[in-house]
Order: sequence, then C-alpha cells, then structure tokens
Amino acid sequence: MNILFLNASPRLNGYTAGTMKCIKNALDSEHIVQWININNLNVKPCQGCLQCRPDKSCILPQDDGHRIAKLIRYADALVIGSPTYFGNVTGPFRTLIDRSLTALEEISSSGLEMPRPLHIGQRAAIVTACNSPSPLSELPNQAAGALSAMQTTLDAGGYDIVGSIIVDAAAGLVGIPQNIENLAKQIAVALQASPASL
Ligand SMILES: Cc1cc2nc3c(=O)[nH]c(=O)nc-3n(C[C@H](O)[C@H](O)[C@H](O)COP(=O)(O)O)c2cc1C
Repeated sequence: MNILFLNASPRLNGYTAGTMKCIKNALDSEHIVQWININNLNVKPCQGCLQCRPDKSCILPQDDGHRIAKLIRYADALVIGSPTYFGNVTGPFRTLIDRSLTALEEISSSGLEMPRPLHIGQRAAIVTACNSPSPLSELPNQAAGALSAMQTTLDAGGYDIVGSIIVDAAAGLVGIPQNIENLAKQIAVALQASPASL
C-alpha cells in the first residue's frame, strides 16, 4: 500500500508529529510511506473559481498544491495530523485541503449534483494535540473542533476512518504517553488490515 502522512505541525518533534511517527513506525515494512511536512510547502490559497471541477488541474501556477493533490489522489491510505489551534486545524493545513478539493471528491461542472467521493473503501486516521486537558479538550471549540474539521475533509473523500487520537494536556507531557503509543499501534494494524479481517 502507498500510505501518505500529512503533518501540519511546525514542531517536527512535537506531539502531533510524534504520534503520527508512532503510527508510521508500527506499519509493516512492505508499505511505501510518504511523509509530508505541510509547513515546508509552497501552496497558494484556493481562488474559489471551481475551474478544477470535475477533475481538472488547478488553474494557479504550479506549486506544491498541485503536487500534494496528486499524492492524495493516488495514495491508498491517509494519515492526517494537525495541532489544535483555536479549536481548529492550522492555517496551512486548511489551505492545502482547499487546494485538494477535486483530489478528494469529483464535483459536476454545474455543481448541482451530489459530489462523488473518490476514496470509498480506503482507510484513514486522524491525530491532533492540544494543551487543554480532558474533558475540556473534547469541547467543540477545543481539540474536538480540530478532529471534526479533519473528519469533514476525510468524509468528503469517502474514507473509512479507522481511528482518531487526541493528545491532550500536551504542555505537561514529557514524551509520547504509553496509552497514545498503544492507540497508534492499533491504528497502524487497522490501516493495513485486509478488508476481510476488519
Ligand atoms: C496559535 C495557537 C493556537 C492554539 N490554540 C489552542 C486551542 O485552541 N486549544 C488548546 O488546547 N491548545 C491550543 N494551542 C496549544 C497547542 O495545541 C499545543 O501546543 C500542541 O501541543 C501543539 O501540537 P504539537 O505539539 O504537535 O506542535 C494553541 C497553540 C498555538 C501556537
């Protein structure tokens, strides 16, 4: 399988990236894994012209948005992670996903028909980290808001979400907690399991 990791944390040794690495390290070695640090990309914001409908290339000058949209389109599974910023995903994550609209779903030229998700049957997982402790982190204006934004993205693609992780109270942690590592391993197993065993 081609498994694509999209990390939106600028802190490459922080808790979002650290938890995503736990998932990556628990995958069998036969998979082709690609890891993208979104903050290092050059992606212009979506212009909202919808010229990419139904499945054409974005009209903006070539940048990393075109490249990553292709990676999303052709990956067999996706792991997305963003720190919780103001109860949501980071700005660069949002910008990249807006640019990836037609890599997730096919939209008719008229825009009147229901979009067709392009990734039905494919698996995905979500990670976020935040400073608020549980149960505050589960409020919609905290980490749950970031999870919900990422879930909306994956739902547009029709992915089967096999797991999501909130690393809460991150400021007080020293390293990735054991329970988070265990959850990450479970997600790795589910991502690569044969459909019949789920
Ligand atoms: C701009 C900004 C906004 C933030 N907003 C929130 C928030 O709404 N709720 C929260 O619990 N933590 C918030 N935090 C704290 C981060 O979520 C926390 O530092 C987290 O560990 C970052 O993830 P990372 O370790 O992967 O970088 C914010 C941090 C920054 C820099």
